[in-house]
Amino acid sequence: MEDFILIRPSFDYIKGISKFRNELLSANSSMDGTGSLRRSKYIRTYIKRCLKLEQIEHTPKNLVPATQFIFVRVSDNKIVGMIQFRHFLNDYLSNYGGHIGYCIAPSERKKGYAKLMLKEALAYCKQVGLEKVFITCLDTNIASEKVILANNGKFDSTIFEPNRKVTLKRFWIDLI
Ligand SMILES: CC(C)(COP(=O)(O)OP(=O)(O)OC[C@H]1O[C@@H](n2cnc3c(N)ncnc32)[C@H](O)[C@@H]1OP(=O)(O)O)[C@@H](O)C(=O)NCCC(=O)NCCS
Repeated sequence: MEDFILIRPSFDYIKGISKFRNELLSANSSMDGTGSLRRSKYIRTYIKRCLKLEQIEHTPKNLVPATQFIFVRVSDNKIVGMIQFRHFLNDYLSNYGGHIGYCIAPSERKKGYAKLMLKEALAYCKQVGLEKVFITCLDTNIASEKVILANNGKFDSTIFEPNRKVTLKRFWIDLI
């Protein structure tokens, strides 16, 4: 496997983030784990918003503080994925959303990158003191379920999410 780095978005990656966003939009893909990227035409503003969201005093009331990461392939400096770690669970997250969301650029899928990106994000979660992580995926999202199971996810239950009218599978991952 090639080398990757999991880092916070910065102005060095404005072009890369814009390309990543365009690729997801063109493919009509969901953009889990990218925060407000879908509606963020201005990438500088997006980056600033991501960095602010890490601090509880700057977090909007309906959200929890979160750390946004980009997953960069070292050989060509390309952003192949994004993953977001929510620092704690509010009502919505503890039922439906979980601690972590992620996505991989459509052209980079099925290469094992999501498995690796989640592994690295879990190492970060452990480093900042989490003992277990809650993750959910649509019950139809076989790829995401495989990513979670490959990272020691233990199936907990399914739940119906009434707003989106979808069924989610819920998993826990022990970090200790
Ligand atoms: C889900 C997603 C992150 C998977 O990324 P990926 O980099 O392709 O995943 P990986 O290459 O690590 O593959 C994981 C497993 O899923 C399988 N897989 C990948 N895409 C698949 C698909 N479309 N259908 C069925 N299986 C698939 C892989 O073959 C692999 O299987 P294996 O464990 O038997 O080898 C990616 O499809 C994506 O970004 N989807 C949109 C956003 C999303 O759904 N995020 C998750 C929200 S919970």
